[in-house]
Order: sequence, then C-alpha cells, then structure tokens
Amino acid sequence: MSALLAETHQRLQDFPLSDHPMTKFSTGDNKSSSHVGDDYFLTSGDKIRFFFEEDAFSSTGNLTKPKHLAINKVGHYLHELSPGFRSATFTDLHTSIAKAVGFRDPRVLQSMVICKQPEIGGAVPPHQDSTFLYTNPPSAVGFWIALEDATVNNGCLSFARGTHRTAPVKSRFVRKLGGGTTFESVKGAQFPDNVTSGLKRISDGTNSATFSELPSAVDEAAETRNTADEEQYVIAEVKAGTLVIIHGNVRHKSERNLSGISRFIYTFHVIEGESEYDDKNWLQPPARGFSELYRKA
Ligand code: FE2
Repeated sequence: MSALLAETHQRLQDFPLSDHPMTKFSTGDNKSSSHVGDDYFLTSGDKIRFFFEEDAFSSTGNLTKPKHLAINKVGHYLHELSPGFRSATFTDLHTSIAKAVGFRDPRVLQSMVICKQPEIGGAVPPHQDSTFLYTNPPSAVGFWIALEDATVNNGCLSFARGTHRTAPVKSRFVRKLGGGTTFESVKGAQFPDNVTSGLKRISDGTNSATFSELPSAVDEAAETRNTADEEQYVIAEVKAGTLVIIHGNVRHKSERNLSGISRFIYTFHVIEGESEYDDKNWLQPPARGFSELYRKA
C-alpha cells in the first residue's frame, strides 16, 4: 500500500499542467458531461492521465488547490504502464478470485487510483459498474483496494444490499456518433451468467474456494426490493489494504469527502473475455487487446 501511495503522490507532483486540457472542467453547469465526453478522457484507455475534482476550480475557472490536491483520479492504464501497479494487479490472489467467481478468460480493461481528496472529494452517485463497462452478457467485476482507511468521514463506499441479484443493467454508457458520450438502454442481457452463479456458489459455501471476507449471506428480502426508493445502503468502512470485490450489477455509491483526510484507493476492473464487447463502449481496447489476468490452460 505504501509503495502504491508513494508512486501516486510522485505522479501527482510530476505530471505537467502545460498540456492538460483544464479548460474542459470550468465550463458552466454541465461540467461532468463535458469532461467525460472529451478526447482526453476517451483516449485514456492506454495512458496514465489525470482527471480533476470538479470542486477544485473557482467560478472563474482557476485551480483553488495545488494540483496534487486537486486530482480526482488517475487512469486508466496503470496496470500496464506502471510496474508497481502491474504487480499489484496480476497476482495469484486475484487470479484465484476470478476463477472462483466463474471467469473463464478474465481481462483487465481499466485501472485507476481514485483520490477522494480532502475537503473537495466528489460524491459518486448510485450506479452499477456494468453500466460503464458493458459486455453482453454483463460480466464486469471491480477489484477495489483501499490504499488508506476508508470511513464515513472521508467518503467510503456503500452498497444497496442484494442488488447484484435484483437490479438489471438497464442502461449503458456509450460513445455518441459525432463525439462525446451518452447513455442508451441495454438491448442485450441485463444480468451476468457465470459471475452470478460463481458468487452464489461462494455464498452457499459450495465452492471449493473460501473467502471469509466476502459477504456470506444473500438477503432474500432484497429479492422484492426493486426500486431505488426502497434500496437500503450498507456502509462499507474498510481499513487500508482491504480488497473489496464489486459485482457489476450491485448498486453502490460514495459520499463527498469534506474531511481533512484523503481516501486513496486503487481499483481495476475485469470482464469476461468470452462475452461480447462492442465498439459502442466509451473505453475501447488497445491494439493488443485487453490484458489477460491469467493465461488459459
Ligand atoms: Fe463503481
């Protein structure tokens, strides 16, 4: 954790502002959609790039913090371009977990450090990761590693219990013709096949692998809770070093960080290489394809 933190802090010090498209972040009310649609974002899949907190700018568009305290996240190719993050990604543990939840050909398609900076760390509204990393059928699983303690004070995750089984992936984040991004309704499968059954085997105790840290029980009452209004979010405070496995269908969120303490985490996402990944997705594979988490036998 300390090595990954040290590398991140160094990168935040070193990246130049001179060629950064900062103006993208100071344009009126629709800041987030303009930033996610721009070229700097859309072509970041095979680069290490730096994305600002929305609240790091004054009304006139100037940074209100030193740049190393103003970055929201760093992504999305740390897992290949950084030796440190590469070795933190392609591990025996992660391979075992991917096999246990049913992956046949797990591919790492993105990675990032999310900084959740002191005082200005932005909230992440409720969402499903498969909306942003859609495959048919859905297969995205997040590997989320706390580099620092994540608490209610600095914006830890919370999860809507049971929604990995009850919440279909109804919309997906896609590239728009002519530029930018938008959401469109999912026409393919809305629940995964292999990943769901793999998680169920673990929760039933019928899988040979045992991961005592995984939530052991599936809340049967959640089967009937389908609307966002009825979702009950469970706070997930974790210590630095904790690995959290996030199902692509589970609805989750995090609050703003108004505290004086940062909440750095490293996360990478895995999809099933045998699922369909089309050219609508905002993130397109590099020339060599998405990285194999492990080689098939
Ligand atoms: Fe997420």
